[in-house]
Amino acid sequence: MALVPAAGRGERLGFGMPKALVPVLGEPLLLHAVRGLLDSGWVNHVVVAAPSGAVEDVDAALGSTGASVHVVPGGAQRTDSVRRALTESGRVAPEADVVLVHDAARAFTPASVIRAVVRAVRSGADAVVPVLPVADTVKQVDPEGRVTTTVDRSRLRTVQTPQGFTPETLRAAYAAAGDAATDDAGLVERIGRQVDTVPGHSHALKITTAFDLAIAESVLAASVP
Ligand code: C5P
Repeated sequence: MALVPAAGRGERLGFGMPKALVPVLGEPLLLHAVRGLLDSGWVNHVVVAAPSGAVEDVDAALGSTGASVHVVPGGAQRTDSVRRALTESGRVAPEADVVLVHDAARAFTPASVIRAVVRAVRSGADAVVPVLPVADTVKQVDPEGRVTTTVDRSRLRTVQTPQGFTPETLRAAYAAAGDAATDDAGLVERIGRQVDTVPGHSHALKITTAFDLAIAESVLAASVP
């Protein structure tokens, strides 16, 4: 089972439409993301949180993926969108043993990453995130922009999606969630549960700007036989 928050407005992309519907090589970004999950072979049901004013458009865009994909209206914050999709998932697939949460914006995540996350949860982890090492030097600054310290980057990781959870863990994290978090594993950390990692992949980049979109299009064009 996978939840796909796709209700962001995508203003930084500058297409004047929800990011989920922006065409990439002729197909909406969200369709690439949902197809990637289903084609991994390890996801049978997907619940998408769509922009509240675009539920029908999103439904139409995903028509080709079949009956295993459900669309619900998202909320004001990503956390609200995931919460709504999580509620729907309990109705759609109450028997699921793993719940993935995958940003529509990471539409080109390789199947190997999706499978590694599912495998880690099935092997006993409560929560799993794909991560990459940090290539740049990272500095902490004060409010005036003056450097206060240089962080040891060898222990830092950037975090991608899909993030994987046992259904009980994700439900407990959302039941306790107050403030919005930038990722779902952050809510799991707050309830004191362990979050494990698996290697991420550069192709799982989050498409936020037109530059990211150009990179994704060239990656996709190169992978089409
Ligand atoms: O804004 P950001 O890039 O962090 O959004 C990450 C993902 O969360 C995107 O796929 C976006 O569509 C989704 N989102 C959502 N509901 C919101 C805001 C963002 O589903 N209210």
